[in-house]
Amino acid sequence: MSDLDQLKQTLLDEIAGASDEAAIEAVRVAALGKKGSVSELLKTLGAMSAEERQTRGAAINALKTLVTEAIAERKAALREAAIAARLAAETVDVSLPVRASPAERGRIHPISQIVDEITAIFADMGFSIAEGPDIETDYYNFTALNFPEGHPAREMHDTFFLPPDEAGERKVLRTHTSPVQVRTMEAQKPPIRIIIPGKTYRQDSDATHSPMFHQVEGLVVDTRANVANMRWVLEEFCKAFFEVESVTMRFRPSFFPFTEPSFEVDIQCDRSSGPIVRFGEGTDWMEILGCGMVHPNVLRAGGLDPDVYQGFAWGMGLDRIAMLKYGMPDLRDFFNADVRWLSHYGFRPLDMPTLFGGLSA
Ligand code: DAH
Repeated sequence: MSDLDQLKQTLLDEIAGASDEAAIEAVRVAALGKKGSVSELLKTLGAMSAEERQTRGAAINALKTLVTEAIAERKAALREAAIAARLAAETVDVSLPVRASPAERGRIHPISQIVDEITAIFADMGFSIAEGPDIETDYYNFTALNFPEGHPAREMHDTFFLPPDEAGERKVLRTHTSPVQVRTMEAQKPPIRIIIPGKTYRQDSDATHSPMFHQVEGLVVDTRANVANMRWVLEEFCKAFFEVESVTMRFRPSFFPFTEPSFEVDIQCDRSSGPIVRFGEGTDWMEILGCGMVHPNVLRAGGLDPDVYQGFAWGMGLDRIAMLKYGMPDLRDFFNADVRWLSHYGFRPLDMPTLFGGLSA
């Protein structure tokens, strides 16, 4: 085999063996570049005799043409393969669903929703919101609310006590929202119309009780507030909250240290269809809140003269009425932070509850 044939074979093998565009370029430079093997041969043409140029010269030129074409062909093939590979790797599946935005996916917890609903209802009646600390003194949680020292009603609350501080005082996790009644009376003069939503704590845990739960408290104090006013306020609230035309309520005598007289209020309902209770119909009764006229000792603790001022108050468990309204069977789910539960029972963040737009619609 002549040296030219040998070189031709080597170059064609290298061209065929180049696996990408960089490799074929390296082959081209090694053959046709300034110092390439074929270029070096071409340089010998000048020194050839006319005869030699006709035979060997022509063969060298033919080799150059052949190699140039083979490289161009291989280059084009490799480029096409590279484009095809890239297209395959970067495929976008346009049939995939678009992911909803965070504002679409986020959900409001039912407790927050219920607080917003209750706030909307009472704000419309001219009430404002009051708040107080979760860690409360024994004084505000009990004494100021007319629970005498050692009174058995303190035991009824299954209180969480904190370790005593330097002064020997044992703070408590508030067992109800009622302490904020006295805190508010101390801070502002009547007329007072407030609601107090918040967290409360008792040592209790099962499907309908959680050691941390929520209450909403109401307080009205002026010079003439009476039981009839209270009944109207509570009835208006229940109609708006349960989104029904009318409700039937039953006031039963009861006892709370901080009210006199005291009542427990039942609401007529239909409990025949499982966890979702229907209000405004049916023949069953369900207890929903405690209330009464503010006890003179509580007014005194708040710095108000009971011969001048009188008021009424009520307290209600929020978690339970949320369960009733939205048919959630187990209270513990409220606090499990399970996103699946929340996306089922939660509320869309931009659907704010209003009386004119609908509370839960
Ligand atoms: N604080 C009471 C409780 O937690 C509920 C309550 C009853 C609050 C009657 C009141 C009221 O304001 O008047 O059981």
